[in-house]
Amino acid sequence: MTRRDLWKEKVVYQIFPCSFQDSNGDGNGDLRGIVSRLDYIRSIGADTIWICPVYRSPLEDQGYDVSDQREIGEIFGTMQDWEELLEETHKRGMELWMDLVLNHTSAEHRWFKRSRSSKDDPFRDYYIWRQGKEDGSPPNNWTSYLGGSAWTYDEATGEYYLHLYSETQPDLNWDNPKVREEIQGLIRYWLDKGVDGFRLDAINVVSKESELPDSMEKKVQGSGYKHFKNGPKVHEYLRELNEKGFSHKEGTITVGETSMVSMDDVKRYTAPERRELSMIFMMESPDIGSDPDDSFKSRDWKLSELKEIITRWEKELKDQGWFGLFGSNHDRPRLVSQFGDDGRYRVESAKLLATLVHTLWGTPFIYQGEEIGMTNYPFESVDRLEDQEAVHYYRSQTEKGEDPAEVERRVLAGTRDHARTPMQWSAGPNAGFSEGKPWMPVNPNYREINVEAEEKNPDSVLNYYRKLIEIRREHANVVVHGEYAPVLEEHEQVLAYVRRCSASQGLVLLNLSDREAEFELTGEICGCLDTARRLLGNYPADGHGIPAKLRPYEAIVFGGLKPMPEK
Ligand code: GLC
Repeated sequence: MTRRDLWKEKVVYQIFPCSFQDSNGDGNGDLRGIVSRLDYIRSIGADTIWICPVYRSPLEDQGYDVSDQREIGEIFGTMQDWEELLEETHKRGMELWMDLVLNHTSAEHRWFKRSRSSKDDPFRDYYIWRQGKEDGSPPNNWTSYLGGSAWTYDEATGEYYLHLYSETQPDLNWDNPKVREEIQGLIRYWLDKGVDGFRLDAINVVSKESELPDSMEKKVQGSGYKHFKNGPKVHEYLRELNEKGFSHKEGTITVGETSMVSMDDVKRYTAPERRELSMIFMMESPDIGSDPDDSFKSRDWKLSELKEIITRWEKELKDQGWFGLFGSNHDRPRLVSQFGDDGRYRVESAKLLATLVHTLWGTPFIYQGEEIGMTNYPFESVDRLEDQEAVHYYRSQTEKGEDPAEVERRVLAGTRDHARTPMQWSAGPNAGFSEGKPWMPVNPNYREINVEAEEKNPDSVLNYYRKLIEIRREHANVVVHGEYAPVLEEHEQVLAYVRRCSASQGLVLLNLSDREAEFELTGEICGCLDTARRLLGNYPADGHGIPAKLRPYEAIVFGGLKPMPEK
């Protein structure tokens, strides 16, 4: 197996540093806090850690507004702390990935301060400035991802600057070669310091059509996307970034955050011979429940749609690209609350969702707290939210005349803050997260749902993750590298598939509903079942062999199926 293949076997643990572990009692998570939890992360079976931004930042977007990409933000610690984190991570045989925010900077960045100071400043062209239309309105009608215009007028020089996110996050002008050189230098700087890989924030929006035309869509957030998503020069720029940045150190792994991609886009970003990125995130299935025109609105979906998405990614990309699999991250509500049942079947459904993510083709990512089945926070009012995206959305939709109670309901269900409440380590004060007052409230269910309690319980969600990851490693030929074939394609409750290589096969059965589900396997697979061995399940086994029905949210993984007969 080549080196390129081996990295696909990684299991990545994502840390949102502000909420992971506080070491100095200021109520905010920090780097030394992470160091104190490395053994825990290792014990789950993860071999790679991705930390969300810990750079200098005014923290208006929790670190995704970077004011100095080469310095550590005071709230997180010092560069020495970061170096210790790297060393301790490596000592445990794990890798460390940094988060690169390259589409924009904070408005506090020295480049932007210079850029806005005068039209003649050498940094002017580091960002995207335009004159308003004749009537003084913004240069085009694009909306930012927070809703509202993507342009802000700046009095000092009488022009507008573009920001696809908040007005405190001006977009960099990637068409300026100096900007790209700065970014390449930045990548080499962190590689020289010893990092092993990067997650690239919002990387498929960096190249905009140069005419910046008006958009025809009705999207609430990010309208205009056709003119910047997977934009005209994005592949040229990524190849250059790879050549002059990532290739600086052999074996650097990169994962791109790229929403709204076609299968061809995925191949373009990740086919090894194109030398752009190692993988991108598979966002289509986690996005299945949101309205594509308004991310705060949910939409009903059917299991058949999820099956179609998974089958398309697993089959069409086989050997042509690679992707990261995830169910939750710092931008989404908690996995079990969104796709499972965080009440009666919390434990069963959290295990089921984990089984799905960890038995497909692709590299699995675990978001902090997901491995103990953490749930959404019972927010009661929009006034309690830190999430600027949610607050902005509430303001702009109510200003447009929508019913405030309805918008609030939507925002409280969809806010990113659910993912950002402190990690629940124990039943002690502040869930063991901090000795001070946490920057975000701790979920009141921390007395029952916490790492300490899960460690003691052999049937906990945490111990289930450990077993799953062990199975993934032990059967890497099948689970990581093998083929995917759907089974029970028409079933409305059960998602089932076979993973196989020439020598062996596994079968995964998942009941994604809160009702019992009967099923019958038919066709070729039936000839392979008599040797099947149950490897893992989220209920006690019900008799021997393949059952005829699955209990609510039941998940079972079988190994040892006879290989398919040669055709
Ligand atoms: C990405 C990040 C998100 C951030 C945004 C702007 O989507 O995941 O947290 O707000 O980019 O940087």
